[in-house]
Amino acid sequence: MSKRKILITSALPYANGPTHLGHMLEYIQTDIWSRFQKLRGHETYYVCADDAHGTPIMLNAQKQGITPEEMVKNVSVERQRDFADFSVEFDNYHSTHSEENKELSALIYNRLNDKGHIKKRTISQLFDPEKEIFLPDRFVTGTCPTCGAEDQNGDSCDACGATYSPTELKDPRSAMSGAIPVLKDSEHYFFDLPAFEDMLKEWLHSGSLQAEMANKLEEWFAEGLQQWDISRDAPYFGFEIPGAPGKYFYVWLDAPIGYMASFKNLCDKSGLDFDAFWGEGSDAELYHFIGKDIIYFHSLFWPAMLDGANFRKPTNVFAHGFVTVNGAKMSKSKGTFIKARTYLDHLNPEYLRYYFAAKLNSGITDLDLNLEDFAQRVNSDLVGKVVNIASRCAGFITKKFDGKLSDVIMEPELLAEFQNASDTIAEHYENREYSRAIREIMTLADKANQFIDAQAPWVLIKNEDTQEQAHQVCSLGLNLFKVLLTYLKPVLPVMAANVESFLNTELTWESAQTPLVGHEISKFKALMQRVEMDKVNKMVEESKESLEAANKPKIDPNSPLAKEPIADEIEFNDFVKVDLRVVKIAKAEHVEGAEKLLKLTLDLGGETRQVFAGIKSAYAPEDIEGKLTVMVANLKPRKMRFGMSEGMVLAAGPGGKEIYILNPDEGSEPGMRVM
Ligand code: 2FM
Ligand code: ZN
Repeated sequence: MSKRKILITSALPYANGPTHLGHMLEYIQTDIWSRFQKLRGHETYYVCADDAHGTPIMLNAQKQGITPEEMVKNVSVERQRDFADFSVEFDNYHSTHSEENKELSALIYNRLNDKGHIKKRTISQLFDPEKEIFLPDRFVTGTCPTCGAEDQNGDSCDACGATYSPTELKDPRSAMSGAIPVLKDSEHYFFDLPAFEDMLKEWLHSGSLQAEMANKLEEWFAEGLQQWDISRDAPYFGFEIPGAPGKYFYVWLDAPIGYMASFKNLCDKSGLDFDAFWGEGSDAELYHFIGKDIIYFHSLFWPAMLDGANFRKPTNVFAHGFVTVNGAKMSKSKGTFIKARTYLDHLNPEYLRYYFAAKLNSGITDLDLNLEDFAQRVNSDLVGKVVNIASRCAGFITKKFDGKLSDVIMEPELLAEFQNASDTIAEHYENREYSRAIREIMTLADKANQFIDAQAPWVLIKNEDTQEQAHQVCSLGLNLFKVLLTYLKPVLPVMAANVESFLNTELTWESAQTPLVGHEISKFKALMQRVEMDKVNKMVEESKESLEAANKPKIDPNSPLAKEPIADEIEFNDFVKVDLRVVKIAKAEHVEGAEKLLKLTLDLGGETRQVFAGIKSAYAPEDIEGKLTVMVANLKPRKMRFGMSEGMVLAAGPGGKEIYILNPDEGSEPGMRVM
């Protein structure tokens, strides 16, 4: 088997919002493939990056009151933690907002421009006159021109499914400001995609594109390729187009270049040869794993851009379907829109890696995560079949045979059957038919269990004469287990690592062919707990809650708002019922027998009121006499132990010595609750 050079990517996640299980399908699928190639001994690199640019990210950062750079950084830290905790192992994780990407984007653009593949023309677009920004389609709302449904997006109607241009909407509004958008002209830059039609057709037929993708491409050719608008006007978070001040690359131009940039960053750190992977005529293989929604970008624009700029084209682009949960689209209200972190808080990541693998194939149909089936499948396959083999054999080896495996392989044909499955299973992995690989592996696991059941080492061990047989049964059992774990290693890297320490050996695709004889093993430790439906249900419950939280702006955990969240929304009519008045504290006195209260006499400028205020821990009477403050003047008088209290003065602060009556310049801080 000759050593291949392989570069693998997953789609670059937008640096916007949390990782969810829909994302995880792609990263797990790719990671399994990358680990498989590495396990086979190929020179493999798996790179990714944050997709940092674009209007939504710019606006989201604005909303949070931070720079886009800061937001991208924050999201990236969490994102990478999520990936690492799911054992998604990148050789490099970078960002599209990087020097490498800026340089490569300029290089590619300049090369395309030099060859006449960039065209300019003036177009008219909706513009928000208040925010002074051109409105992307989804930032325009209005009434559907077809069915009249109100509050529809700028590109399509949820009610009747019609698609249209935002300029066709009736009563359009900017989703950013509510202003009525106006049409405004601006010069845009276009990539001349139609010039690449012949090349793309050849690419389509030369490779082994997924059937669904090839069909899509044929459809697009039939419709006729269009020039692609690659510029956006300032303000925009992205890279300015060389020689075009105020014009920025559309996020989708520099996003796939981010694959190259991340690899370039890796090359610079590790001495790898960039051109050996990206140069024209490179003999390395290049694969992009993506979701089915972004095929257009990866199978038309991207190969054309690479070709036009004298780089190699992808060997293949692998699209997958979406994740549904319990047979339906992931839903925030049902709690099935599950964030990666919420999952990790409740369940072992290898359960999900296994379940996805057990259901994944090379097509683009959606994958249903049925939560009952998930628990049942993991429990029956991994705990009930695979781990069971080891847990039934290991104890005897440790306790009765000094932790040493037998020198004899008692049924070489059975072991050979396991070893001979290697090529078939490898082929399934290679073809991304993981579900078939898993099926083969589980059939073998059944055979191993049948062998152990038939031999019943727990019976053999009891009799002096059959103890040696028990030794051989358990030793073969563990050798079969070793082969299975090697095959499962791309899917279950953590369990495989634990098995490596248990068996004192490294699992490689090749070493599956060599059994362990007379070999010392370590003490067996539990490898996997059963999935408990309780925990699954808790995760779903929490996903319902975390949705509400997710919609609220992020709050600094040290701020007063975090300690005392803002109360439920009230109507304006509720608010105007509260009559707030500036008053002068005419007199302040101690109240006999009251620990916390001061008795205040307040001058409203026409009448006086007596109010008991719980501010004694913070103020001595003489400190506040003569000061102005604010009171609720129409609070119903309350009879207190020491007399009537006819209103309430407003104060803020956490309590104790830190209570500040308003006069608010006196030490209170923004966000403190007024009491
Ligand atoms: O659809 C998305 O989530 C994009 N951020 C994917 C970009 S893939 C590549 F082109 F960068
Ligand atoms: Zn409609």
